[in-house]
Amino acid sequence: MKKVDIVEFEIRQLLDAVLFQYGYDFRNYSGASMERRIRNRCILSNCNNISEMIPKILHDPDFFDLFLKDMSITVTEMFRDPYVYKRIRQEICPVLSTYSRINVWHAGCATGEEVFSMAILFEEEGLLERTRIYATDFNNNSLEIAKRGIYSAEKMKQYTKNYIDSGGRASFADYYMAKYDSVKIKESLKKNITFANHNLTKDQVFAQMNLIICRNVLIYFDNELQDQTLNLFKDSLINRGYLVLGDKETIDFSDIRDDFEDCCRKERIFRKKNEI
Ligand SMILES: C[S@@+](CC[C@H](N)C(=O)[O-])C[C@H]1O[C@@H](n2cnc3c(N)ncnc32)[C@H](O)[C@@H]1O
Repeated sequence: MKKVDIVEFEIRQLLDAVLFQYGYDFRNYSGASMERRIRNRCILSNCNNISEMIPKILHDPDFFDLFLKDMSITVTEMFRDPYVYKRIRQEICPVLSTYSRINVWHAGCATGEEVFSMAILFEEEGLLERTRIYATDFNNNSLEIAKRGIYSAEKMKQYTKNYIDSGGRASFADYYMAKYDSVKIKESLKKNITFANHNLTKDQVFAQMNLIICRNVLIYFDNELQDQTLNLFKDSLINRGYLVLGDKETIDFSDIRDDFEDCCRKERIFRKKNEI
């Protein structure tokens, strides 16, 4: 029988309490980084051990909010990994331009930077008008920031560089209004975006997607949950639809592998085969 150490046992109980009380299922998040974040919260809350956090989680929704923030790493950027956007521009946009309606799903969109990057790219490729972008995350705080589309002006230097490296065709400053130390994304870019809460561990498919972008989310899941999520994406895509993952993520181990072909392997872009 596998020996379970006491911390592992306490974490299991804590995650069961979270699932029971709030319906969030973290049982298949991958081990080491989750354990580090839970231990950290334990210290910050002056608890002597992880078990002491269980009653807090069960009875204090504000404490659960802190826990959810810990579990939801929101690091993101506009035009993050510019070479991926370049490929989307070169390889995917010409194909999408043959469709009269285009559906895009950003799963795990965090605070929205990635979503507005895609809106800018689609605008430049003449596709935005006929596109509906669904941008989802399970963290409502992040979604509120995304809906506002207000970011720190400090970051614009890096984002401008990313935009240029991605093959941007205009001046990046055309897409936002600067005020004091922040910038606001142009309203016209938001028009075709629907932000919504969606939990990849338990919620349903988004049907008829031409393109799904889910980057730097699967790395937090164990293989079983990654596989379940990849199947959700497969069922959400139309035949010949595209799936874009993060640079440390792959479908190679998954049972959806045979349903997809590599489109751009380096950029982690896969294309669904025709279902027979
Ligand atoms: C590191 S961010 C990635 C943001 C963006 N995709 C990027 O690559 O720049 C990971 C996001 O995944 C979200 N996430 C984690 N687990 C999730 C789940 N089960 N359902 C939906 N979103 C989840 C987190 O809330 C966080 O916003």
